[in-house]
Amino acid sequence: MTQLEKKNKVAKAALEYIENNQVVGIGSGSTVNCFINMLDKVKSKIDAVVSSSELTTKLVESKNIRVIELKEAGKIPIYIDGADESNKFKQLIKGGGGALTREKIVAHSSSNFICMIDDSKYVRVLGKFPLPIEVIRMAQSSIAMEMIKLGGRPVLRENFITDNGNIILDVHDLEIDEPIGLESFLNNIPGVVTNGIFAIRGADKLLIANEKNIEVI
Ligand code: A5P
Repeated sequence: MTQLEKKNKVAKAALEYIENNQVVGIGSGSTVNCFINMLDKVKSKIDAVVSSSELTTKLVESKNIRVIELKEAGKIPIYIDGADESNKFKQLIKGGGGALTREKIVAHSSSNFICMIDDSKYVRVLGKFPLPIEVIRMAQSSIAMEMIKLGGRPVLRENFITDNGNIILDVHDLEIDEPIGLESFLNNIPGVVTNGIFAIRGADKLLIANEKNIEVI
């Protein structure tokens, strides 16, 4: 089974979590794109969507589903998104697609975060996937120095500007043994907009697609 087939399989499983008349928070990325492609099946249940990126907004609107601002939605009952890595505590690395800031905002405002991954992304220790950090451009070198002090290897994401107008540093070679501690530490560095560790607010439910079935933890 290819990774794309697994993405489709887990996206289909996530559809089951949508209840009648709900506002649904939707993340970003290729797994989410598979999920959005299937939304016709449950469209009648969805009151509106809160989106985490310009691309997700465009794709959802192309399905003739209403996209509303977070301030109109208040607390969102369900948020559905992918991730780049997860450990068994449902602490995640996200931001491979660069939408981490809005994703973290929507996740924080949601009661139930359903995360869809395939089994290649389920890891014992986070950090094999380079950690994305959205950064105010002026702070690029000072933040890069901090990352080197931590033992990381920061690489500027080439030709990429986030929906919020910032740059991304992808930090390689970090072994993230204490995700909550590192997430908090990074949040306090001046110029860091958002880091891609989602541990303070991790997922509530993790759907993992493997060759045979969907594991739910
Ligand atoms: C987008 O910024 C990311 O957080 C994605 O949710 C994450 O990178 C997973 O993406 P894929 O579904 O494309 O693997």
